[in-house]
Amino acid sequence: MKVIFVGAGPGDPDLLTVKAQNLLRKTKFCIYAGSLINPAVLDNLPEDCRKIDSARISLDETIELFKEGQQAEIDVVRLHSGDPSIYGAIGEQIRALADLGIDYEVIPGVSSFQASAAAVGVELTAPELSQTIILTRTKGRTPMPEAQDLDKLAQTRSTLCLFLSVHKLEEISQQLSKYYGEDCPVAVVYRASWPDQKIVRGTLASIAQTVKAAQIKKTAMIIVGDALRDEETLSKLYDASFSHGYRKGTPI
Ligand SMILES: C[S@@+](CC[C@H](N)C(=O)[O-])C[C@H]1O[C@@H](n2cnc3c(N)ncnc32)[C@H](O)[C@@H]1O
Repeated sequence: MKVIFVGAGPGDPDLLTVKAQNLLRKTKFCIYAGSLINPAVLDNLPEDCRKIDSARISLDETIELFKEGQQAEIDVVRLHSGDPSIYGAIGEQIRALADLGIDYEVIPGVSSFQASAAAVGVELTAPELSQTIILTRTKGRTPMPEAQDLDKLAQTRSTLCLFLSVHKLEEISQQLSKYYGEDCPVAVVYRASWPDQKIVRGTLASIAQTVKAAQIKKTAMIIVGDALRDEETLSKLYDASFSHGYRKGTPI
Protein backbone atom coordinates (compact mmCIF):
# COMPACT_ATOMS: atom_id res chain seq x y z
CA MET A 1 0.00 0.00 0.00
CA LYS A 2 1.19 3.53 -0.70
CA VAL A 3 -0.03 7.12 -0.84
CA ILE A 4 0.24 8.77 -4.24
CA PHE A 5 0.29 12.57 -4.32
CA VAL A 6 -1.11 13.55 -7.70
CA GLY A 7 -1.10 16.92 -9.44
CA ALA A 8 -4.62 17.61 -10.72
CA GLY A 9 -3.43 20.52 -12.88
CA PRO A 10 -4.97 24.00 -12.92
CA GLY A 11 -8.58 23.05 -13.73
CA ASP A 12 -9.11 21.83 -17.30
CA PRO A 13 -9.26 18.01 -17.06
CA ASP A 14 -7.40 17.82 -20.40
CA LEU A 15 -4.39 19.25 -18.57
CA LEU A 16 -4.06 16.18 -16.35
CA THR A 17 -0.96 14.16 -17.21
CA VAL A 18 -1.66 10.82 -18.91
CA LYS A 19 -0.10 9.14 -15.88
CA ALA A 20 -2.48 10.94 -13.50
CA GLN A 21 -5.52 10.18 -15.64
CA ASN A 22 -4.65 6.47 -15.92
CA LEU A 23 -4.22 6.29 -12.17
CA LEU A 24 -7.44 8.17 -11.34
CA ARG A 25 -9.43 5.76 -13.52
CA LYS A 26 -8.55 2.85 -11.25
CA THR A 27 -8.46 4.63 -7.88
CA LYS A 28 -10.48 3.17 -4.99
CA PHE A 29 -9.79 5.85 -2.35
CA CYS A 30 -9.17 9.54 -3.12
CA ILE A 31 -8.68 12.54 -0.87
CA TYR A 32 -8.92 15.69 -3.00
CA ALA A 33 -8.50 19.44 -2.45
CA GLY A 34 -12.09 20.33 -3.24
CA SER A 35 -11.75 24.12 -3.15
CA LEU A 36 -9.43 24.22 -6.18
CA ILE A 37 -10.04 21.02 -8.14
CA ASN A 38 -12.46 21.09 -11.04
CA PRO A 39 -15.24 18.48 -10.48
CA ALA A 40 -14.63 17.45 -14.12
CA VAL A 41 -11.23 16.06 -13.01
CA LEU A 42 -13.02 13.91 -10.41
CA ASP A 43 -15.21 12.47 -13.17
CA ASN A 44 -12.19 10.27 -13.97
CA LEU A 45 -12.65 8.40 -10.67
CA PRO A 46 -14.67 5.15 -10.77
CA GLU A 47 -18.21 5.42 -9.38
CA ASP A 48 -17.43 3.21 -6.40
CA CYS A 49 -14.30 5.19 -5.43
CA ARG A 50 -14.40 6.55 -1.87
CA LYS A 51 -13.98 10.34 -2.21
CA ILE A 52 -13.16 12.75 0.61
CA ASP A 53 -12.85 16.52 0.24
CA SER A 54 -9.78 17.62 2.21
CA ALA A 55 -11.15 21.19 2.48
CA ARG A 56 -13.32 19.88 5.31
CA ILE A 57 -10.71 17.96 7.29
CA SER A 58 -7.52 18.67 9.28
CA LEU A 59 -4.04 17.22 8.76
CA ASP A 60 -4.61 14.78 11.66
CA GLU A 61 -7.84 13.57 10.05
CA THR A 62 -6.04 13.15 6.71
CA ILE A 63 -3.42 11.01 8.43
CA GLU A 64 -6.15 8.89 10.04
CA LEU A 65 -7.49 8.28 6.51
CA PHE A 66 -4.00 7.23 5.33
CA LYS A 67 -3.96 4.75 8.23
CA GLU A 68 -7.34 3.38 7.13
CA GLY A 69 -5.89 2.82 3.65
CA GLN A 70 -2.90 1.08 5.23
CA GLN A 71 -5.13 -1.24 7.27
CA ALA A 72 -7.32 -2.07 4.27
CA GLU A 73 -4.24 -2.38 2.04
CA ILE A 74 -5.70 0.09 -0.47
CA ASP A 75 -3.56 2.76 -2.16
CA VAL A 76 -4.70 6.28 -1.34
CA VAL A 77 -4.59 8.99 -4.00
CA ARG A 78 -4.04 12.44 -2.51
CA LEU A 79 -5.10 14.85 -5.23
CA HIS A 80 -3.70 18.39 -5.06
CA SER A 81 -4.38 21.29 -7.41
CA GLY A 82 -1.74 22.28 -9.96
CA ASP A 83 1.59 20.73 -9.04
CA PRO A 84 1.68 19.23 -5.53
CA SER A 85 5.16 20.60 -4.81
CA ILE A 86 3.96 24.23 -4.90
CA TYR A 87 1.96 25.42 -1.88
CA GLY A 88 0.52 21.92 -1.66
CA ALA A 89 1.38 21.28 2.01
CA ILE A 90 2.65 17.82 1.05
CA GLY A 91 5.80 18.12 3.19
CA GLU A 92 3.90 17.65 6.47
CA GLN A 93 1.97 14.70 5.02
CA ILE A 94 5.19 13.07 3.78
CA ARG A 95 6.76 13.39 7.23
CA ALA A 96 3.70 11.74 8.81
CA LEU A 97 3.87 8.92 6.26
CA ALA A 98 7.54 8.35 7.09
CA ASP A 99 6.61 8.01 10.80
CA LEU A 100 3.93 5.45 9.87
CA GLY A 101 6.26 3.55 7.55
CA ILE A 102 3.93 4.13 4.57
CA ASP A 103 5.52 4.50 1.11
CA TYR A 104 4.60 7.40 -1.12
CA GLU A 105 5.05 8.64 -4.66
CA VAL A 106 4.48 12.05 -6.28
CA ILE A 107 3.02 12.50 -9.78
CA PRO A 108 3.64 16.08 -10.94
CA GLY A 109 0.98 18.31 -12.45
CA VAL A 110 0.72 21.44 -14.57
CA SER A 111 0.92 24.37 -12.18
CA SER A 112 -1.43 27.34 -12.30
CA PHE A 113 1.49 29.68 -13.04
CA GLN A 114 2.12 27.72 -16.24
CA ALA A 115 -1.56 27.64 -17.18
CA SER A 116 -1.77 31.39 -16.51
CA ALA A 117 1.25 32.15 -18.71
CA ALA A 118 -0.35 30.00 -21.42
CA ALA A 119 -3.67 31.84 -21.08
CA VAL A 120 -1.93 35.19 -21.44
CA GLY A 121 0.20 33.79 -24.26
CA VAL A 122 3.59 34.98 -23.01
CA GLU A 123 7.11 33.70 -22.49
CA LEU A 124 8.08 34.28 -18.86
CA THR A 125 11.80 34.13 -19.70
CA ALA A 126 12.04 36.73 -22.48
CA PRO A 127 15.66 37.06 -23.71
CA GLU A 128 17.46 40.12 -22.30
CA LEU A 129 14.40 41.19 -20.28
CA SER A 130 14.09 38.43 -17.71
CA GLN A 131 15.84 35.09 -17.41
CA THR A 132 14.55 34.26 -13.94
CA ILE A 133 11.07 33.39 -12.68
CA ILE A 134 10.26 33.74 -9.01
CA LEU A 135 7.27 31.81 -7.67
CA THR A 136 6.20 33.49 -4.47
CA ARG A 137 3.34 34.87 -2.40
CA THR A 138 2.68 37.69 0.01
CA LYS A 139 2.53 37.04 3.69
CA GLY A 140 -0.84 36.16 5.08
CA ARG A 141 -1.47 33.94 8.04
CA THR A 142 1.61 32.10 6.76
CA PRO A 143 4.55 34.43 7.46
CA MET A 144 7.29 34.99 4.85
CA PRO A 145 10.95 34.35 5.71
CA GLU A 146 12.52 37.82 6.08
CA ALA A 147 15.12 37.29 3.35
CA GLN A 148 12.29 36.56 0.89
CA ASP A 149 10.43 39.76 1.49
CA LEU A 150 8.83 41.07 -1.73
CA ASP A 151 11.03 44.19 -1.61
CA LYS A 152 14.13 42.00 -1.71
CA LEU A 153 12.84 39.75 -4.49
CA ALA A 154 11.72 42.77 -6.53
CA GLN A 155 15.27 44.12 -6.62
CA THR A 156 16.16 41.29 -9.05
CA ARG A 157 13.49 42.47 -11.53
CA SER A 158 12.78 38.84 -12.31
CA THR A 159 9.40 37.74 -13.65
CA LEU A 160 7.23 37.35 -10.56
CA CYS A 161 4.39 34.83 -10.31
CA LEU A 162 2.44 35.56 -7.17
CA PHE A 163 0.20 32.88 -5.73
CA LEU A 164 -2.37 33.40 -2.96
CA SER A 165 -2.04 37.18 -3.14
CA VAL A 166 -4.69 38.77 -5.35
CA HIS A 167 -6.58 40.13 -2.34
CA LYS A 168 -3.53 42.31 -1.61
CA LEU A 169 -2.98 43.53 -5.17
CA GLU A 170 -3.16 47.23 -4.36
CA GLU A 171 -0.47 46.99 -1.69
CA ILE A 172 1.68 44.71 -3.88
CA SER A 173 1.46 47.03 -6.90
CA GLN A 174 2.60 50.01 -4.83
CA GLN A 175 5.45 48.03 -3.32
CA LEU A 176 6.64 46.67 -6.70
CA SER A 177 6.37 50.04 -8.49
CA LYS A 178 9.48 51.21 -6.63
CA TYR A 179 11.56 48.57 -8.42
CA TYR A 180 9.75 47.77 -11.69
CA GLY A 181 8.30 51.21 -12.43
CA GLU A 182 4.61 52.11 -12.54
CA ASP A 183 4.41 51.28 -16.25
CA CYS A 184 5.57 47.68 -15.75
CA PRO A 185 3.05 45.26 -17.29
CA VAL A 186 0.99 42.95 -15.07
CA ALA A 187 -1.40 40.14 -15.94
CA VAL A 188 -3.89 38.65 -13.51
CA VAL A 189 -5.49 35.36 -14.46
CA TYR A 190 -8.54 34.14 -12.56
CA ARG A 191 -9.16 30.38 -12.69
CA ALA A 192 -6.77 29.74 -15.58
CA SER A 193 -8.05 26.94 -17.86
CA TRP A 194 -11.52 26.80 -16.20
CA PRO A 195 -14.56 27.61 -18.34
CA ASP A 196 -15.00 30.90 -16.42
CA GLN A 197 -11.34 31.96 -16.76
CA LYS A 198 -10.75 35.74 -16.77
CA ILE A 199 -7.61 37.55 -17.92
CA VAL A 200 -6.97 41.11 -16.85
CA ARG A 201 -3.96 43.03 -18.16
CA GLY A 202 -2.63 46.41 -17.09
CA THR A 203 0.34 48.12 -15.48
CA LEU A 204 1.42 48.33 -11.86
CA ALA A 205 -0.33 51.73 -11.79
CA SER A 206 -3.67 50.49 -13.16
CA ILE A 207 -4.04 46.79 -12.35
CA ALA A 208 -5.54 47.00 -8.83
CA GLN A 209 -8.49 49.07 -10.06
CA THR A 210 -9.09 46.88 -13.13
CA VAL A 211 -9.01 43.67 -11.09
CA LYS A 212 -11.39 45.20 -8.54
CA ALA A 213 -13.78 46.14 -11.34
CA ALA A 214 -13.56 42.56 -12.65
CA GLN A 215 -14.47 41.38 -9.11
CA ILE A 216 -11.53 39.00 -8.86
CA LYS A 217 -10.89 38.27 -5.19
CA LYS A 218 -9.33 34.80 -5.09
CA THR A 219 -7.97 31.86 -7.15
CA ALA A 220 -5.90 34.13 -9.34
CA MET A 221 -2.30 34.31 -10.50
CA ILE A 222 -0.48 37.64 -10.66
CA ILE A 223 2.33 37.80 -13.22
CA VAL A 224 4.55 40.88 -13.13
CA GLY A 225 7.64 41.80 -15.10
CA ASP A 226 9.38 43.16 -18.14
CA ALA A 227 8.88 39.83 -19.92
CA LEU A 228 5.26 40.90 -20.48
CA ARG A 229 6.41 43.96 -22.42
CA ASP A 230 5.66 43.74 -26.10
CA GLU A 231 9.33 44.14 -27.02
CA GLU A 232 11.24 42.35 -29.72
CA THR A 233 14.08 40.40 -28.16
CA LEU A 234 15.57 37.34 -29.78
CA SER A 235 16.88 34.12 -28.27
CA LYS A 236 20.40 32.88 -28.98
CA LEU A 237 19.08 29.34 -29.36
CA TYR A 238 17.33 30.04 -32.67
CA ASP A 239 19.65 32.83 -33.87
CA ALA A 240 20.81 31.81 -37.40
CA SER A 241 24.41 32.88 -36.63
CA PHE A 242 24.64 31.01 -33.31
CA SER A 243 26.31 27.57 -33.27
CA HIS A 244 25.47 24.94 -30.68
CA GLY A 245 25.62 21.17 -30.22
CA TYR A 246 22.80 20.47 -32.70
CA ARG A 247 23.29 23.17 -35.34
CA LYS A 248 26.15 25.06 -37.00
CA GLY A 249 25.39 28.75 -37.29
CA THR A 250 25.87 30.68 -40.54
CA PRO A 251 28.13 33.71 -39.99
CA ILE A 252 26.51 37.05 -40.87
C1 LIG B 1 -2.75 26.58 -2.40
S1 LIG B 1 -2.14 27.31 -3.87
C2 LIG B 1 -2.00 25.88 -4.87
C3 LIG B 1 -1.08 26.05 -6.05
C4 LIG B 1 -1.00 24.82 -6.92
N1 LIG B 1 -0.29 23.76 -6.25
C5 LIG B 1 -0.36 25.08 -8.29
O1 LIG B 1 0.71 24.52 -8.59
O2 LIG B 1 -0.95 25.84 -9.05
C6 LIG B 1 -3.59 28.11 -4.46
C7 LIG B 1 -3.26 29.34 -5.29
O3 LIG B 1 -2.78 28.94 -6.56
C8 LIG B 1 -3.26 29.81 -7.55
N2 LIG B 1 -4.17 29.06 -8.43
C9 LIG B 1 -4.59 27.79 -8.29
N3 LIG B 1 -5.33 27.40 -9.35
C10 LIG B 1 -5.38 28.48 -10.17
C11 LIG B 1 -5.94 28.72 -11.46
N4 LIG B 1 -6.61 27.78 -12.10
N5 LIG B 1 -5.76 29.94 -12.01
C12 LIG B 1 -5.06 30.91 -11.40
N6 LIG B 1 -4.49 30.74 -10.20
C13 LIG B 1 -4.65 29.55 -9.60
C14 LIG B 1 -3.99 30.94 -6.85
O4 LIG B 1 -3.06 31.97 -6.58
C15 LIG B 1 -4.43 30.24 -5.58
O5 LIG B 1 -4.64 31.19 -4.56
